[in-house]
Amino acid sequence: MTDPAVQAELARETSRRRTFAIIAHPDAGKTTLTEKLLLYSGLLRTAGMVKNRKGGKMATSDWMQMEQERGISITSSAMQFEYKGCTINVLDTPGHQDFSEDTYRTLTAADCAIMVLDAAKGVETQTRKLFAVCKLRGIPVLTFVNKCDLPGREPLELMTEVEEVLGIHASAMNWPVGSGKDFVGVVERASRELVLFTSAASGGSQRAEQRRLPLASPEAAAALGDQLAARLREDLEMLEVAGNPFSAEAFAAGQVTPVFFGSARTNFGIEPFYDTFVHLAPPPGARPAKRLSDGGDLHVDPVERPFSAYVFKIQANMDPRHRDALAFVRICSGRFERDLVVKHLHRGAVVRELRLSRPHTLVARDRTTLDVAWPGDVVGLINAGFAIGDTLVSSAVSQQDCFEHAALPAFPPEVFARIAPADLTKRKPFDKGMLQLASEGAVQVLRKYDDRTADPFIAAVGRLQFEVLQYRLRDEYGVETQLSPLPFQCSGWLVGDPATFKPTPGAAVAEDARGRPVVLFTTTWDRQYCFKNNPEHSYVEYA
Ligand code: G4P
Repeated sequence: MTDPAVQAELARETSRRRTFAIIAHPDAGKTTLTEKLLLYSGLLRTAGMVKNRKGGKMATSDWMQMEQERGISITSSAMQFEYKGCTINVLDTPGHQDFSEDTYRTLTAADCAIMVLDAAKGVETQTRKLFAVCKLRGIPVLTFVNKCDLPGREPLELMTEVEEVLGIHASAMNWPVGSGKDFVGVVERASRELVLFTSAASGGSQRAEQRRLPLASPEAAAALGDQLAARLREDLEMLEVAGNPFSAEAFAAGQVTPVFFGSARTNFGIEPFYDTFVHLAPPPGARPAKRLSDGGDLHVDPVERPFSAYVFKIQANMDPRHRDALAFVRICSGRFERDLVVKHLHRGAVVRELRLSRPHTLVARDRTTLDVAWPGDVVGLINAGFAIGDTLVSSAVSQQDCFEHAALPAFPPEVFARIAPADLTKRKPFDKGMLQLASEGAVQVLRKYDDRTADPFIAAVGRLQFEVLQYRLRDEYGVETQLSPLPFQCSGWLVGDPATFKPTPGAAVAEDARGRPVVLFTTTWDRQYCFKNNPEHSYVEYA
């Protein structure tokens, strides 16, 4: 019998969790917004610490130092802090050079996402790719239009772009008052309040002061002036008539994104956004799984089910002081505690039982060991021999009731290379290493369809994955490798009979690790052309 007090604590802790990722094209302001969430959570007395003086980002080690100094749980993968009664888990989705399958996989561990747009640039390439994964997983997305303190595009035009490019309704929750250097506040549509901000310190290092006035009040009219007030009235009227309505149900179903305007640099609009965010963002919910005994579909409720989690990321540690791999698991149900004994499931079977005696919250120099965690939290497990997508279930669950969390999709790779051992006598350890690292999900391994004995193609979302692979082959298997980049830039999993498929010149047909045919192309235009010439066939981007 479960202890009712323990169950009540589990329900309470689960409902307080807000686990999300921030998705953005590089430079849109993801780091700045993250920093401001920390500032408003009371964890930083002064913002502006995430960057060094030269304007570059702080190195991870600086983050670690910051953590040691301030006692914040910051990792390269997840950060945890409190805001207005909620426990906030921000999952890091690396961009720039670090863009990799991990970036996508991390999104599968989030319960919702904040999409940051640069008000001058709108929806950019990386935003689009990350949004596609949210859509695939049915994750609700909130939109924060950033940099409203700079000259930008018309708010309405940006919302239309979101709708047209991303295929989701956009509903303005607030509306900017003024733009560029005249951006002074926002109007909250639900409360019809004008929220005016003043900088407490230059560069947004302190919280902005905010003043709320009923929009219809004489004070608001005086603060706005005739011209601004008239313009605002016009915009708001037009939104009432032509804008999309917001409903919590449509948001939860991923059909509408609530849009907020602000400036992460000056903090204007951060507090109204953050307050609405904790209210709207969903706590951890039920997750799809399969029962092992009969393959039946299940929904794993975070509170009703005993402990379960899945591995969404494995990080080989490049730091010579910690030569190990860290598996990041997202807790989906039940209470986690140190020394918990779990069943480890890999591809539909229980492979072993193990005691989780060394769970860590992070990859810091002095790793803090964790005692208790709840659904929505992320835990790092060191050297535990897991592969991406593996499930952990409390050993208290019987074989009959055991279940596995839904498999992670394979994401569309964009970089391809051929890899071979530099020294041919190292073929055996090379093959062994490739098998292991591919099963961990470090890269995708493809074999040429008509010559399966040839050296494999490797495919990844970002180049960093190749670097990590080469590093690990050298470090863990003693094999130096040679990498020859291939000209392909996109691919598709083939739907239809591969025997009758006629690839266009320059395209190649390969087979992935699970034996599924994949076609590689040098351009998206080629892909389009090729499938036009093969009307019996089609492709999917995620498999
Ligand atoms: P990212 O993580 O998405 O890549 O973006 P990041 O936060 O690093 O922001 C990129 C640049 O945009 C930074 O400027 C940052 O200060 C600036 N920025 C972010 N939000 C705002 C905003 O709301 N308004 C304005 N005006 N700028 C914003 P930088 O020149 O690269 O660095 P720094 O000079 O701030 O150190």
